[in-house]
Amino acid sequence: MTQKLPNKSKPAWAGENWLSRGVNLLIQTRPIYALMKHQARKILIQTAEKNGIPWRANTQSYEQSDIQQRLPQLLNPAVTYPDYYRRPFHGYDRGNLCWQAAFEAESATYSMALRVWPQESLTWQKAQERLRSGFHQALSQYGPPSINKVLDMGCSVGISTLALHRYLRHQGTPAQSAHPESAQPETTPTPIQASIKTIGLDLSPYMLAVAQMQDCHHEIQEWRHAQAESTGFPDNTFDLVTLQFVIHELPRQATGEILGEVLRFYVRGDVWESWTTIQNLP
Ligand SMILES: C[S@@+](CC[C@H](N)C(=O)[O-])C[C@H]1O[C@@H](n2cnc3c(N)ncnc32)[C@H](O)[C@@H]1O
Repeated sequence: MTQKLPNKSKPAWAGENWLSRGVNLLIQTRPIYALMKHQARKILIQTAEKNGIPWRANTQSYEQSDIQQRLPQLLNPAVTYPDYYRRPFHGYDRGNLCWQAAFEAESATYSMALRVWPQESLTWQKAQERLRSGFHQALSQYGPPSINKVLDMGCSVGISTLALHRYLRHQGTPAQSAHPESAQPETTPTPIQASIKTIGLDLSPYMLAVAQMQDCHHEIQEWRHAQAESTGFPDNTFDLVTLQFVIHELPRQATGEILGEVLRFYVRGDVWESWTTIQNLP
């Protein structure tokens, strides 16, 4: 079946027209860009706080914690950073390689989910739950029949990793809903899948420090600092690999290399990517 996709794939300012050229010119003019960035951040934070996300309070509580002491244990000295990863990104001069980006990532993730359904007045908690459960439901319908070892690539501060791990552990593996022939008899309650082991991987050790702090019950087997393009995992390691809201941030070549790497360490199950179209950015 051929599905007709909407024609408009980019906002007006991202094309080749006069508006796009004008915006690009402003971005390239340093003092104007600094002002635009400042204003955009202000609006982003105000919008989040108006929607009940305690952006500045969250950031402050990380700043006042001892989280920075976690960095040396998480840091993998063998890791190198590709050029695209060292560029300014999301308004941070050091991209994801700084504490500020890591301290704000949780609030930014909650805000992102709210922007998926701009027409509905959802709480940020409900939006986040809907975002994750949509992915989990698709996984339960189409995912591999049995799951034990899971890798969440580009895990950031661990929100996607913890949600996925808890879903697989408590709701049963996809086998039970997607593959009825392997389902338990009705009288048997769905067991907790204690055997599920999940690893969260990210290139930013700052993000991983926040993820590790959030994982206060040590549910996740490991928070691994590595480049998704070259993880060092041996063959046959995982039943499921997820990339949740990662690929849209990568250059095409990196995406190809990451998928090549996943095939190299041979996943017996599936690779899953979730993405979203974010509308009405402030
Ligand atoms: C938008 S965040 C993903 C958020 C998270 N998966 C979620 O769903 O909430 C993208 C993450 O991908 C990570 N990332 C980008 N390029 C990467 C690479 N080459 N290797 C590993 N992680 C990478 C970034 O550091 C960032 O934390």
